[in-house]
Amino acid sequence: MSNSGSFEASLKRSEALVADLNEHPGKYTMLTGDRPTGRLHLGHYFGTIKERVRLQNLGVNTRVIIADYQVITDRDTTANIQDNVYNMVMDYLACGIDPEKTVIFTHSQVPALNQLMLPFLSLVTEAELQRNPTVKAEMEASGHTLTGLLLTYPVHQACDILFCKGNVVPVGKDQLPHIEQTRLIARKFNERYGKVFPEPEAILQDTVEIPGLDGRKMSKSYGNAISLCLTEKETEKLIKKSKTDSERFITFDKENRPGVSALLTTAALCTGRSEEEIAAEIGNDGAGALKRYVTESVNEYLAPIRERRRAYEQDLDYVKDVLREGNRKANEMANQTLSEVCEAMGMVY
Ligand code: TRP
Repeated sequence: MSNSGSFEASLKRSEALVADLNEHPGKYTMLTGDRPTGRLHLGHYFGTIKERVRLQNLGVNTRVIIADYQVITDRDTTANIQDNVYNMVMDYLACGIDPEKTVIFTHSQVPALNQLMLPFLSLVTEAELQRNPTVKAEMEASGHTLTGLLLTYPVHQACDILFCKGNVVPVGKDQLPHIEQTRLIARKFNERYGKVFPEPEAILQDTVEIPGLDGRKMSKSYGNAISLCLTEKETEKLIKKSKTDSERFITFDKENRPGVSALLTTAALCTGRSEEEIAAEIGNDGAGALKRYVTESVNEYLAPIRERRRAYEQDLDYVKDVLREGNRKANEMANQTLSEVCEAMGMVY
C-alpha cells in the first residue's frame, strides 16, 4: 500500500492534478483537516494552511474538518476539547480561511457523516487495516494499546472525504495510505452498489519538512513549535531558548548543525530569502544575532495573522457562529450523501 512504487505514482498523479486544478478549480472539492489537540503552529501554516487558503481563493470548493473524534484514537481524554476547537477556528480565520468560501465543521456534529462508517467498514478487511503503516506508527508513538478506533480511523477518514464527495485531499506523505484506503472504499462501494462516490486523489504537500526549533519535525509534542497565537515576547523567549551549538560562524548544514539550520529555515520561510544568504549575512555575529533575526522575521511575518486572531479572541460569539453555520452546511451535504447511499443499497423504507 505504501511502497515506493505507489508513492511515485501518487506523486505523478498529484502533479498532473495540480496543473488541472489551477485551470479548472470549480471541478474540484477539497477536503482536509486537523485534530484539535492544540494550537496551530508555523509547521501547520507553511505545511498546509497556506496552500488551503490559496486553493480556496482560486475557487476550489473547500471543506475543512476539525477532526474531534480523531482526538480519542490514541488518547483517553477529551479534556480542553471545546477550547481547542474554538481556538482552531480562530487560527483558521486568522490565517485567511474564509467561512463564506470554506465550510468549517466537526465530526461530532454531523451524524450522517459518522453513519457512513457502517457500510464502509464492510468494505475493508482486517488485513488492510493491520498493515497500514501510519496506524502502526501512531500506535507505537502513543504508547497505548491498539484501540478499535485507532485501527479503523482510516475508514472514518474516508467518511470525512467521501461524505462531501471530496475529490482532492492535500496531505503529507504519512497520510497517503489513508487516501489509498479511501480510493479502495469508493471503488468497492461503487462496484457493489452503483456509482455514488468519486475516487479522491492526494495532493502531496511539498516534501520540505518544517523543522522545529531543535531541528526535528515541528510538533507540539516535541515542545519545539512556534504557535501562531504566541505573543511577540513569548516568541522571542522561545527562540532564545532554542539549542544551537558552540561554533560561532553561522552556516547552513542540516546534518551537522540541526539547531542552527532549523533557525535559518524558519527565517527563510518567513522572509522568502534562502538559508545560505541569511547565514552569510549573519556570519561571525553568531547564534545570538541569528536568533534576533529569526525572532524579528517570525514576528513580522505573523503580525497581521496575530492581529486578526486577537480580534477573534474578543468575539467568541462570532467564532461559534462560524462553526455552527459550517456544521449546518456539512449536515446538509452528509444527509444528501447518506440518502444516496441508502438508495443505492436498497435501504429505502
Ligand atoms: N488525520 C489528519 C491529521 O492528523 C487529519 C484529518 C482528519 C484529515 N480527517 C481528514 C486529513 C481527512 C485529510 C482528510 O492531520
